[in-house]
Amino acid sequence: MKGIILAGGHGTRLHPLTMGVSKQMLPVYDKPMIYYPLSVLMLAGITEIQIIAAPHDVPGFRRLLGDGSALGLRFSYAEQDKPRGLADAFLVGAEHIGDDPVALVLGDNLFHGPGFGEILRASARNVDGCVLFGYPVSDPERYGVGEVDEAGRLVRLEEKPAVPRSDLAVTGLYFYDNDVVDIARGLAPSERGELEITDVNQVYLERGKAEFVQLGRGFVWLDTGTHDALTAAGQYVQILSHRQGVRIGCVEEIAWRMGYIDRDSCHRLGLALSGSPYGQYLMEITAGAHRPAPVG
Ligand code: G1P
Repeated sequence: MKGIILAGGHGTRLHPLTMGVSKQMLPVYDKPMIYYPLSVLMLAGITEIQIIAAPHDVPGFRRLLGDGSALGLRFSYAEQDKPRGLADAFLVGAEHIGDDPVALVLGDNLFHGPGFGEILRASARNVDGCVLFGYPVSDPERYGVGEVDEAGRLVRLEEKPAVPRSDLAVTGLYFYDNDVVDIARGLAPSERGELEITDVNQVYLERGKAEFVQLGRGFVWLDTGTHDALTAAGQYVQILSHRQGVRIGCVEEIAWRMGYIDRDSCHRLGLALSGSPYGQYLMEITAGAHRPAPVG
């Protein structure tokens, strides 16, 4: 399965923060925002990942992440010359996807929860149709919203409905079989001029092939699209770090624990960052001095 991180957009809701830097490069406590969605794909077992960004932002992502080999991964980069909607990722990324299934994660979404790695790996296995993730929120009108029947099956999807039929937001993480490329090719832009991911998901729903996994209590899904949301996300990561000593979204640690790199390589990555607590954390966990915590 291939992975795509969509890191496009103008980040206008975060101006002036995003006037000189891509939103997905902004700090969420101790690391750039894109580390969090990257870690989601890594936990799903995906190693070939394309980062899609605005042309002027691609060099920055390349500088930050390189070709992925340091993490035992393969990164490629593609330009989205203007924000055409989330489903445009499958057109820009068509070559990268090839004949494979694909996971798309939005570059500004942060997930954390018990057993999430297992859920991800199970979802990535034999995708037949699509797998969407629902999360109850107090403001569903801001999101794609899923309605389920008594058995928890998805029966309806609506994009930012004025009057939501449920409180289940559709999060920015999606698994698709290879049909998604053709489905995206057949879409027409919505009223806001974008290729909507909800329209893609609607096709799968009509085919009876949209699985809806509900992330319930104990899970955290944060988006980082407003100043308050961005600050809250940073505080959440900070609290976990101080209280439990765990650093979520630490891609070097995940690369090691997933077996993409060995302990020594992870230690060396820490050493290269040893001027920061982040680097020191990597050195500590790979020295065995730190309580080992399984990922996901
Ligand atoms: C997009 C999707 C929406 C989804 C959300 C998750 O919204 O259109 O369905 O719930 O991402 O972050 P947008 O960021 O385009 O407002």
